[in-house]
Amino acid sequence: MKRAKIAIIGGGNVGASCALWAASKELGDIVVLDIPQVENLVKGKMLDLAQCAPIERFDCTITGTADYKDIAGSDVVVVTAGIPRKPGMSRDDLIQTNVKIVKSVSENIREYAPDSIVIVVSNPLDAMVYTAWKTTGFPTSRIVGQAGCLDVARFRAFLAMETGFSVEDINALLLGGHGDDMVPLPRYTNIAGIPITQFMSEAKLNEIVERAKVGGGEIVKLMGTSAYYAPASGVVQMVEAMVRDKKRILPCAGYCDKEYGVGGYFVGVPCVLGAGGVERIIEIDLNAGERDLMKESISHVKALVKVVREMFPDLA
Ligand code: LAC
Repeated sequence: MKRAKIAIIGGGNVGASCALWAASKELGDIVVLDIPQVENLVKGKMLDLAQCAPIERFDCTITGTADYKDIAGSDVVVVTAGIPRKPGMSRDDLIQTNVKIVKSVSENIREYAPDSIVIVVSNPLDAMVYTAWKTTGFPTSRIVGQAGCLDVARFRAFLAMETGFSVEDINALLLGGHGDDMVPLPRYTNIAGIPITQFMSEAKLNEIVERAKVGGGEIVKLMGTSAYYAPASGVVQMVEAMVRDKKRILPCAGYCDKEYGVGGYFVGVPCVLGAGGVERIIEIDLNAGERDLMKESISHVKALVKVVREMFPDLA
């Protein structure tokens, strides 16, 4: 039986961390591609990672490259290419630069890995997924964005820090765009099935919700650049669900038309991930307040996509 092939575009912090997590879980053969100016760097980093195999015990090939031909036959392509945030920047401030990068990367994916499932991580996420979709022309089941896995992981990590319980028992859900107006759903949050409200006051919970919403910015402030371990971990959670055909329900930026009344945009919703990519979008009941928050978040996503369309009318 053939091993899965995973291509990662962009060998920076997020890309290299994706390779590391994917290798450690032995998800498949890994190719990390970067621009020719840093070809040796990406080759060296991946050779370094490949040399962990005897200790970490993974049997997969790991290579760095600057040649798109090497992504041929990939089952999954992860797009991490683009510039990260600096302190004081919002994700939206990256759009002018990153849309050009993601467009050009997507043209190459269309040419060299036409049957792949594409997971986009570049920011501003929801607009970059849209860019990859329009550029590749792939069916919406094969285009998805990573954001919700990260945002939920942050929320769960903070809840674990607060309560002292195992992260494994903390279940949470989050919808909307990957902006500071993302929509955590305390109503769908529990610890081992027990409603979260049994463990903390509403004020405390709201404080944690707010911290999760701006969790990316908290790290940018501390490090001077964007997070990478947890974003990469979120990606690999999605890759694993696909290459192992697990049918996991994970919060991802999936294409919604009638779903949640979105009208043809990618936003964070519960997606069923398996070998076919996004195999289904799950619609859940929202109360009036949650619907309002979702609407606001979607309107933010629409405004970002409008910028993409204005820059590249062929992506409209
Ligand atoms: C974050 C960036 C990666 O949320 O969007 O950390």
